[in-house]
Amino acid sequence: MKARETAKNEPERLVIGLTGASGVVYGIRALEACAELGIESHLVMTKPAEMTIGYETKLSPREVAAKADYSYAVTDIAAPIASGSFRTKGMLVAPCSVRSMSEIATGVTTNCLTRAADVMLKERRPLVLMVRETPLHLGHLRTMAALTEMGAIILPPVPAFYAEPRSLSDLVDQMVGRALDLFGYNWPGVKRWGEDLTKGRRKSSPSARSAATAEMPVAAPALRRAEGAKTRRSKKIKS
Ligand SMILES: Cc1cc2nc3c(=O)[nH]c(=O)nc-3n(C[C@H](O)[C@H](O)[C@H](O)COP(=O)(O)O)c2cc1C
Repeated sequence: MKARETAKNEPERLVIGLTGASGVVYGIRALEACAELGIESHLVMTKPAEMTIGYETKLSPREVAAKADYSYAVTDIAAPIASGSFRTKGMLVAPCSVRSMSEIATGVTTNCLTRAADVMLKERRPLVLMVRETPLHLGHLRTMAALTEMGAIILPPVPAFYAEPRSLSDLVDQMVGRALDLFGYNWPGVKRWGEDLTKGRRKSSPSARSAATAEMPVAAPALRRAEGAKTRRSKKIKS
């Protein structure tokens, strides 16, 4: 069989890593998106990720693992994804903790997740790290810069309000879709500027801004509280 034909018959494989940072739902949605797109998912999650699954979702780690086509123990450094000879499209770590990020940056990898990430870097395949921490100290920022120099993409889960999110799922899906964009996958969960979204729909006057926040359940309560606090403060100054 010719080399080209072999490549054609190979499944599209994506490695998904879940670490113990907050926002484990990003990784879970990424697994679901892979299933929808027909991408073969290869999952590895750390022990702290299993803890955050317990804190942040109603699922068990086993139920999360069942969403992947293949799942590996974090201790299994002999797993296929730990070798560069196992062909994959790349790896998404979502969410990525500072601990795992730092380990990947050093190359001193102690588990299957960080080893798989190291493999992506050495094979020059896309490695997308959805790093979740805030605020960031200089060491975090330097580590991110080092990883960027090595070829990784740092993609913090930052909400895109221009995408008019109406729920937390909208926010999560937009982020997961933008992560998948970086591997060349087009997941329908993403709202695209210039396609699904157009500019100039809202005016930027204060009254138009209030109307806009009233329409946006995710941001509205916090923004309305802030508006209320501003009014109360100005009344106090007057008296
Ligand atoms: C509920 C919870 C939330 C956490 N959130 C974060 C976070 O957002 N970012 C982070 O870097 N670490 C966070 N941590 C701490 C990590 O879980 C911890 O540093 C752990 O050692 C990471 O290990 P891992 O990278 O092997 O998953 C959190 C821990 C818990 C229990």
